[in-house]
Amino acid sequence: MVSTIKEEGSQSFQSQNILSVSHLGKSFTDGRWKLEVLSDVSFEISRGEWVAIMGPSGCGKTTLLNLIGLLEQQNNGKIVFEGIDVQGLNSKEKASIRSIKISFVFQNHFLVSTLTVKENVELPFIWFKNKLNSSEIEERTLSVIEMVGLLNRVNYFPEELSGGEKQRIAIARALVNNAQLILLDEPTGNLDAQTGKAILNIFRKIVDQGTSVIMVTHDSEAARLADRILLLRKGRIIAIEKKNMDVNS
Ligand SMILES: Nc1ncnc2c1ncn2[C@@H]1O[C@H](COP(=O)(O)OP(=O)(O)OP(=O)(O)O)[C@@H](O)[C@H]1O
Ligand SMILES: [Mg+2]
Repeated sequence: MVSTIKEEGSQSFQSQNILSVSHLGKSFTDGRWKLEVLSDVSFEISRGEWVAIMGPSGCGKTTLLNLIGLLEQQNNGKIVFEGIDVQGLNSKEKASIRSIKISFVFQNHFLVSTLTVKENVELPFIWFKNKLNSSEIEERTLSVIEMVGLLNRVNYFPEELSGGEKQRIAIARALVNNAQLILLDEPTGNLDAQTGKAILNIFRKIVDQGTSVIMVTHDSEAARLADRILLLRKGRIIAIEKKNMDVNS
């Protein structure tokens, strides 16, 4: 079911729903206490759509991305990805979707410290060993490293990079396998204004080519570039803003 890197390009993607989240609930507990983080979250995203999620620190934005990225299990509600209720999948099928169809840029990068920049970016290709030869992998890897402006760092290790450079490498890794859905947790948080803008322009380009992007951000300028803004408060989506509305009011 997850055998192609990307479905080739008809223009009909804009009307297709790639992800539907309904009545999602998530609590954390250790038996003595229970913290309800998400109580009833519902929204949909189409192919080739860029949705920004905003909300105060601790309101559950990363938790929501972790559920959508199949890294955690919800307590209530349903996640349907490409028409499939993911709750019915086994762990191998989930791992396959996570590696081939959904890319993640985490708030704290998660680069592998013992691998170079190039090796880190190549990691998702573990899943495509039989489909791509090494020169295709190298060409694609170097092209996304170039997109984020770090071709001069390919042989560096993560500890030799600045915070913003690590973030850009994590973004390159998320772009390398042409995933259908990219989840971004504060992707411009560590970047100066100019680099942040260049990265956001890359997202716009891939969205216009049919990729869907969910971007958590505290930066209302970045959110404004998205097609829609969802506001998360008290475990629910409380508003769906048009991109030109003032999200701070
Ligand atoms: N594994 C966990 N166990 C217990 N509580 C958790 C766990 N993960 C998250 N939480 C709690 O859930 C709440 C939401 O966390 P989350 O990381 O989703 O917030 P956030 O909206 O991403 O915040 P920020 O903007 O600061 O990144 C927080 O109060 C946090 O302490
Ligand atoms: Mg967070």
